[in-house]
Amino acid sequence: MGQCGITSSKTVLVFLNLIFWVEDEVNQSIQKVYDEYNGTNTDAPSRAIDYVQRQLHCCGITNYSDWKNTRWFKESRNNSVPLSCCKPNVNNCTGSLSRPGDLYPEGCEALVVKKLKEIMMYVIWAALTFAAIQMLGMLCACVVLCRRRRDPAYELLITGGTYA
Ligand SMILES: *[C@@H]1O[C@H](CO)[C@@H](O)[C@H](O)[C@H]1NC(C)=O
Ligand SMILES: *[C@@H]1O[C@H](CO)[C@@H](O)[C@H](O)[C@H]1NC(C)=O
Ligand SMILES: *[C@@H]1O[C@H](CO)[C@@H](O)[C@H](O)[C@H]1NC(C)=O
Ligand SMILES: *[C@@H]1O[C@H](CO)[C@@H](O)[C@H](O)[C@H]1NC(C)=O
Ligand SMILES: *[C@@H]1O[C@H](CO)[C@@H](O)[C@H](O)[C@H]1NC(C)=O
Repeated sequence: MGQCGITSSKTVLVFLNLIFWVEDEVNQSIQKVYDEYNGTNTDAPSRAIDYVQRQLHCCGITNYSDWKNTRWFKESRNNSVPLSCCKPNVNNCTGSLSRPGDLYPEGCEALVVKKLKEIMMYVIWAALTFAAIQMLGMLCACVVLCRRRRDPAYELLITGGTYA
């Protein structure tokens, strides 16, 4: 049982490290992904960014101002962010930064990290529940075996009938 305790606390530590690693990784790579945005709906970064901005209702990394630093923004030269930044209830939103009220005010990075953490916590709970059930099963098996060993009839059975 002590062994089990050590193993599960190690597992929890590994998972906690994993969470920090994920946050670090998102922080470092999100800028690169935004730089690769192209606006064509065929390449992976563009689709991923449009999807995330629509699903999580966010725009840019910390806010929509981050789009100003991207290659796509500089190349399109019309002071606009992608339409996936537009709030859904705004009519004829063009993504123009001259109308910031039409855009999602929140940045995506914090929301992506939060979402990933939620998913990972879910996985961790599932793993811990599974481990707890397994330990319970072992405990039951142990109780049954220990009780049998004190039973004379069972003793007879396992010592091969030299009782009589
Ligand atoms: C990631 O970036 C956010 C905001 O930019 C910051 O609050 C957070 O501490 C960063 N996390 C790591 C692990 O660097
Ligand atoms: C996007 O990619 C296509 C095909 O790779 C290319 O023709 C186009 O110029 C790119 N647009 C921008 C804004 O980088
Ligand atoms: C966006 O965030 C930057 C810092 O990351 C800040 O300087 C700027 O004022 C913010 N813009 C808006 C419109 O909130
Ligand atoms: C700005 O340019 C981009 C890329 O050329 C285009 O997709 C977008 O519709 C333009 N936005 C406006 C308001 O003209
Ligand atoms: C948006 O569309 C409405 C009609 O649906 C029009 O009256 C309004 O001028 C448009 N706004 C812009 C900024 O194009």
